Amino acid sequence: MAIIEVKSVKKVFKKPVRKPGIIGMFKTLFSLKYDLIEAVKNISFSLEPGEIVGYIGANGAGKSTTIKMMCGILTPTEGEILVEGYHPYHPKQRRHVLNKIGVVFGQRTQLWWDLPLIESLIILKQIYDVSNQDYKDRFDFLNKVLDLEPFLSQPVRTLSLGQRMRADLAASLIHNPKVLFLDEPTIGLDVLVKDRMIKAIKEINKTYETTIILTTHNMDDITDLCHRIIILDEGSILYDGSINLIKKKFGDIRHIRFFSSQEIDLQLLKTKIGHDVDVEIQNGYIELSFDIEKISINQVLKTILNDYVVDDIHIKENSLESIVKKIYETRQI
Ligand SMILES: Nc1ncnc2c1ncn2[C@@H]1O[C@H](COP(=O)(O)OP(=O)(O)OP(=O)(O)O)[C@@H](O)[C@H]1O
Ligand SMILES: [Mg+2]
Repeated sequence: MAIIEVKSVKKVFKKPVRKPGIIGMFKTLFSLKYDLIEAVKNISFSLEPGEIVGYIGANGAGKSTTIKMMCGILTPTEGEILVEGYHPYHPKQRRHVLNKIGVVFGQRTQLWWDLPLIESLIILKQIYDVSNQDYKDRFDFLNKVLDLEPFLSQPVRTLSLGQRMRADLAASLIHNPKVLFLDEPTIGLDVLVKDRMIKAIKEINKTYETTIILTTHNMDDITDLCHRIIILDEGSILYDGSINLIKKKFGDIRHIRFFSSQEIDLQLLKTKIGHDVDVEIQNGYIELSFDIEKISINQVLKTILNDYVVDDIHIKENSLESIVKKIYETRQI
């Protein structure tokens, strides 16, 4: 049975129409004129227990709004959301849901700014009524995967971004929630801390079978963690399915980039290889993109190496990043 159900959900924000200047500011206060922003338009999906799903989309697509509705910070304008059968935004059902979910917003901390991390964790233990034994087990686990020890006694406001993000992740999990919402949990992290976070998220999902919904603009994180992605475009779902399927839909594309000190006529190069190849210049390199079901790598490489002086060459397979870029540009799949 699904652990999360999002059924025909819509979220409309009302934004007062602003008038310029000081007088305009006062006029705005008493004006009844609003712009309506449809941040989320009639979306539906469900999540099975233990799944890790990537929730992606361009800036402003409505991802954070959906997450806020799923954890009860916002109420849908239409439709309903069920987390283990309860509505997170319903005043009488909220409590049931809060025990079951954990949330990390990469952009802002949920911790008490002036308290040392360890004290925040102890307060959360009390709030969620976690037994001493469970707290100890979970703390040991989180300390191991997130290496919290070095900064446990520092006030949260003194933590570096990477430490703060690890602290936030630990805090969101101390009550062992069944569902974890991660909204840009790796934003601004250096490669080492980011790797640690990704490994920790994998480990959490494997050990506790936590259902995870992850929002990020980093497609490497998505590829590392998720089989399934949901792509949101201006509030509507454009795709919900496996990463493999979307890669197949876009064809088995390879990109060959080469650098030549020789002057190259791109049109001639294209004619030699065939019309199904895309040719462009990027940072001085010539990039050829083609579907290997239509043109063989052998044929392309032979043409390049036989006919041109090649100073450098790379072959890349189609990344989720390049597919997503195309989807954001064309707004279709
Ligand atoms: N409280 C609010 N009042 C008015 N408009 C809002 C509010 N919150 C969000 N919006 C608008 O709703 C749309 C969706 O915003 P949302 O934060 O969900 O996007 P997002 O997909 O998370 O984007 P990003 O990748 O930049 O974080 C945007 O146009 C935003 O300006
Ligand atoms: Mg957001």
